[in-house]
Amino acid sequence: MSSKKKLGVGLIGTGFMGKAHALGFTIAARVFDLPFELDLVSVADVTTESAENARQRLGFRKATSDWRELLTDPDIDIIDITTPNLLHKEMALAAIAHGKHVYCEKPLAPTVADCAEMVAAAEKAGVVTQVGFNYLKNPLIFLAKDIIESGEIGEIRSMRGVHAEDFMADASVPWGWRLNPASGGGALADIGSHIIASMRHLVGPIRSVLAETIIQIPERPVSAGATEMRAVEVDDITRAFVRFESGATGSFEANWIATGRKMQHDFEIYGSKGSIVFTQERLNEIRLYKTGDDIRTRGFRTIWAGPEHPPYGAFCVAPGHQIGFNDLKAIEVNEFLEAIAKGKSPSTDFREGYEVQKVLSATYQSAKTNEWVQIG
Ligand SMILES: NC(=O)c1ccc[n+]([C@@H]2O[C@H](COP(=O)([O-])OP(=O)(O)OC[C@H]3O[C@@H](n4cnc5c(N)ncnc54)[C@H](O)[C@@H]3O)[C@@H](O)[C@H]2O)c1
Repeated sequence: MSSKKKLGVGLIGTGFMGKAHALGFTIAARVFDLPFELDLVSVADVTTESAENARQRLGFRKATSDWRELLTDPDIDIIDITTPNLLHKEMALAAIAHGKHVYCEKPLAPTVADCAEMVAAAEKAGVVTQVGFNYLKNPLIFLAKDIIESGEIGEIRSMRGVHAEDFMADASVPWGWRLNPASGGGALADIGSHIIASMRHLVGPIRSVLAETIIQIPERPVSAGATEMRAVEVDDITRAFVRFESGATGSFEANWIATGRKMQHDFEIYGSKGSIVFTQERLNEIRLYKTGDDIRTRGFRTIWAGPEHPPYGAFCVAPGHQIGFNDLKAIEVNEFLEAIAKGKSPSTDFREGYEVQKVLSATYQSAKTNEWVQIG
């Protein structure tokens, strides 16, 4: 019998992220010395069949087609929201009203006002929140942040970021929740939120943006294989110039029709004494250049993730053997549980989700007005 306090989890949504979160909890319990004993209590989805199927696959005790049942379940301490963006706010506010901690996928909600309401409710209730900006939980991104903060690559002058995938590149991909303008936008909100989070994390707050949004595929089938078409109103590609509060400048691109790109969450950060280059497609490597190196051998060196880059060692004792996407979710879960144990906020809490949303909103506004927009 564990002497640790039990913490119950209620998961809403069992799609791509529902599975990743369930694996995150399961892996975290195996590799970290968590402050709680985890209890995967109940899982909710739209139908009893899908919820029950997920219960069996993912190791939960109960299943329901009514997510509200999780709110009143006395065994549940954490509500984990992995549903489409438009549903996050209602579910999170209900969870907070019932005193539950909330783990929610990104983008936090479709508008800045929605996010502000969620932050206010969570902070008033004193519950701990976490948003799924998982790419920041990479041991090598922790290293990159350490290198930047130590001054090792000098004053940061600029950052170029991109988040590109190709899951919408085929014009026959049908209409779905990601194309609903009420969800808060297209490629920028969906995947661009990740690169904005990385830019804020590594170089700091963004002061202003000048952006362009592009709808490259103007209509899509209403459903898979349908001949009836529906107009697309959200961006396939968004590009922006950014100015950071620190004085550094940069740019980012969000692109979900980047044929051949599967997970290009990439950035290059240039400092006065060196630079850092990263691509999520090779998430166990980071490249570092230092102007102080011997001139004859100076160049980018590749650093492979290993036990000297915590918490890699919790997963594997040997360097270079590599961790994966679901492991980043386990690190995110560990950070969340540590925060609950200590009554603190993780770095990617609802307030950070709100700050990212302010950049998203300013970017869309700039694309409409063709002018630089300050992040308020
Ligand atoms: N952090 C990441 O890397 C990452 C990656 C992909 C998606 N996401 C985010 O995760 C969220 C979900 O995306 P996804 O790709 O998993 O979508 P998905 O369509 O695969 O899954 C959504 C799930 O929510 C369920 N659902 C919908 N309405 C519901 C309701 N009323 N009650 C209960 N369940 C309901 C659906 O049935 C489905 O199981 C989105 O906010 C998305 O932006 C994050």
